[in-house]
Amino acid sequence: MRVLVSGGAGYIGSHTVLSLIEAGHDVLVVDDFSNSKPTVMARVESLTGAHVPVHAFDLTDVDKTERLFATEQIDAVIHFAGLKAVGESVAKPLEYYANNLGSTFALVNAMRHHDVRRLVFSSSATVYGDNAPVPYHEDYQPLSASSPYGRTKVMQEQVLSDVAAADGLKVALLRYFNPVGAHRSGTMGEDPQGIPNNLMPFIAQVAVGRREKLAIFGDDYPTADGTCERDYIHVEDLAAGHVAALEHLDAMTEPVRAFNLGGGTGTSVLELFRAFERAVGHELPYEIAGRRAGDLPAYWADTARAAEELGWRATRTIDDMCADTWRWQSANPQGYPEG
Ligand code: NAD
Ligand code: WQD
Repeated sequence: MRVLVSGGAGYIGSHTVLSLIEAGHDVLVVDDFSNSKPTVMARVESLTGAHVPVHAFDLTDVDKTERLFATEQIDAVIHFAGLKAVGESVAKPLEYYANNLGSTFALVNAMRHHDVRRLVFSSSATVYGDNAPVPYHEDYQPLSASSPYGRTKVMQEQVLSDVAAADGLKVALLRYFNPVGAHRSGTMGEDPQGIPNNLMPFIAQVAVGRREKLAIFGDDYPTADGTCERDYIHVEDLAAGHVAALEHLDAMTEPVRAFNLGGGTGTSVLELFRAFERAVGHELPYEIAGRRAGDLPAYWADTARAAEELGWRATRTIDDMCADTWRWQSANPQGYPEG
């Protein structure tokens, strides 16, 4: 298939572009580089030997999005583009609603006008809200979220479900748990701008000397070691999940289907930190700090549906995730070069 990857220069998008090319698909990317650097594409091209056309514009621009579909042959879309920082979304809700919903409206409208009927969408475990039983199952209702960011995902899932039912689209809603890790080559990985919001990139920056120490947000949760448990998933496994979902769309009997992409087990903050120390080969500095507002104690995915229907499972371990992150961070301490 010829696949348009929106947000294809971003963390998960770039790894998925690589997996798509390795699976034999043709890829083109649209990204406005608001949270990524153009130099990532050279890494993708050198790993694959393929040329990836990149269209650098903001998807909320309806005219440019329409023109892209009018001039390129596109068989399917994987839609990663969006803003994703939970805390920032509380401070700038309108930016989040405008960007995340606006890009989806423009994209799906252009798809309808040009008869493109396959869509894979980046959703999040955040749509399960605060009260879903663990492990999280795709059929759980009602979906909700506790941040404007999370609410954009709930809303986008609803919009896409309605459009799929009305217009004959096939849509896979992929609910990611906690994506971490880097390409095994160490040439591609997560490159957050500013202070990392998420645990793994923060630990990696402590290990490389960019941050003084990790603050562990709370050790008094009702978990085995008192720190929060999450379902970490290696970004290469996640990328493979997108290829599996894309190739499954035509066989879907319903217009829209949600799939959890996670490993199915919980790992605590301290366990992840200790695994990273093993990858680095020495101890790292940390302190116990107060709880972060909004954090749930523990959750992970029910992975049965993705295994049965997509034939996909996460295979990489926590030690793989840490070793690959460290390979990337130690070889690229400041992330991707500017340029
Ligand atoms: P990312 O910020 O690295 O990638 C998103 C890309 O989209 C960036 O390259 C950015 O420049 C681009 N972009 C943003 N708005 C755009 C617009 N209007 N037009 C064109 N390009 C635009 O983020 P990521 O971690 O790769 O996440 C990808 C998707 O997965 C996002 O939708 C995110 O919400 C979702 N997701 C991420 C996580 C996670 O923890 N990383 C978890 C669950 C879901
Ligand atoms: C993991 C654990 C923190 C940083 C977020 C979004 C979610 C999804 C994935 C997009 C928590 C602890 C963290 C630090 C810490 N994204 N922590 N010190 O919060 O599970 O999920 O990213 O959809 O929607 O909410 O991930 O990596 O921020 O935190 O102790 O410096 O690490 O308290 O328990 P989270 P995270």
